[in-house]
Amino acid sequence: MSEQEQRLIHGQWSSRMAFILAASGSAIGLGNIWKFPYLVGENGGGAFVLIYMLCVVMLGVPIMMAETLLGRKGRRSPVNTLLNLARQAGAGRLWGQVGWLGVVAGFLILSYYSVIAGWSLAYIFKMSSGFMNQVDAEKARTAFLALQGSPELQFIWHSLFMIATVSIVSRGVNRGLEAATRYLMPLLFIMILALDLFALGSEGAGQGLSFLFKPDFSRLSGESLMIALGQAFFSLGLGMGAIMMYGSYLPDGVSITRASLIVAGADTLIALLAGVAIFPIVFTHHLAPGMGPGLIFETLPIAFGKMPAGHLFGTIFFVLVFFAAITSAIALIEPTVAWLYENRGMSRESASLWSGLACWLVGLGTIQSFSDPLHWRIGDKSLFEWLDFVTAELMLPIGGILIAVFAGWVLSAETTAGELALGSRYRLWRFAIRYLAPLGVGLILLRGVGGM
Ligand code: TRP
Repeated sequence: MSEQEQRLIHGQWSSRMAFILAASGSAIGLGNIWKFPYLVGENGGGAFVLIYMLCVVMLGVPIMMAETLLGRKGRRSPVNTLLNLARQAGAGRLWGQVGWLGVVAGFLILSYYSVIAGWSLAYIFKMSSGFMNQVDAEKARTAFLALQGSPELQFIWHSLFMIATVSIVSRGVNRGLEAATRYLMPLLFIMILALDLFALGSEGAGQGLSFLFKPDFSRLSGESLMIALGQAFFSLGLGMGAIMMYGSYLPDGVSITRASLIVAGADTLIALLAGVAIFPIVFTHHLAPGMGPGLIFETLPIAFGKMPAGHLFGTIFFVLVFFAAITSAIALIEPTVAWLYENRGMSRESASLWSGLACWLVGLGTIQSFSDPLHWRIGDKSLFEWLDFVTAELMLPIGGILIAVFAGWVLSAETTAGELALGSRYRLWRFAIRYLAPLGVGLILLRGVGGM
């Protein structure tokens, strides 16, 4: 093999790795560790998990492939990618607006994501100070409620998280962060496995596992289907152009299908393993699975409190959660930052600063809605619940439909077939992206909104 060939092969491998790392960094985050378990708890367990997995496989993976493909084809930031590709295909300029939807969705998600990431920062200190040693369910609950009830504390942690995000994003693509994904994510995986082993040895293991894996459709609420769908988009990081952006750095010749399957598989595995760690503890201590967003913060400290060197492991765990959160936060804010510096002529630094500041401000509302839930309500939802609902359950799925329609109907079959190089299985993807994804996501949305 000539030196040049060797370099070529090496280059391709490292680029595929870089894409997989960046995309997994964006996918694996609070969505897997914090959100998935509490949504499973609120939506009755196994049946929800099953529907979630169906959404990932049948709708999420084809759309992820489409989003990556569009990015690689367009080689620009999402708004310009869609504009250019639409022009080439002779379609309208309106497609550029889809990129806009993504900018706004990412911005709104980050505004509350940062508050929750702030909770995990707070827990790094709660764990390392030994404050949580030997806690029982009662004490763990009191500690969490004290944090949730304090606007001042949440203000500090939310601000710190936003500062960390802005300082990383303002430096552009960061090597240190790539290393963080490469080494810290496997470590997070190992920590979750250790928690799983602990949980499986507890009294409530059987009950926890059957709650998680035994589908009981009578426990599903009317809205569950829509929540499962929204969570699939949220957890995979789809529907807002983040993956499109990463796809634009992907060299030709790398298999988009394989990369998508690896990312979606890892993301789903981590979410399920987080569930396995949490529900046995819930049942051992007779807690309520449907307690909501505090679930991991009220359960995991109990497990750490009982382990040898638990405060050390607990500290490491929340540090890893913080890193998982920050690699996702970067993906969430990137479209806003890119738009500001591409279209508004700002420097990368001030673009990051201004978007971070705006996110931070909106986040203050989320903090209020946690600490003073009675006053910060509109109709039947708190401000946090509204933000979550509008972004995860409406904007991301709608973004997903539009991406599917664009890839399936606006782009020609020759274009997409050439990009995917799937051989005979291409027809399967084409069917999924033309019919299954738009109709499936559309019907779930209509049903969810209609029955709201
Ligand atoms: N997927 C991340 C998580 O599970 C959050 C996230 C990152 C995201 N990028 C996104 C959600 C894009 C929606 C869209 O924590």
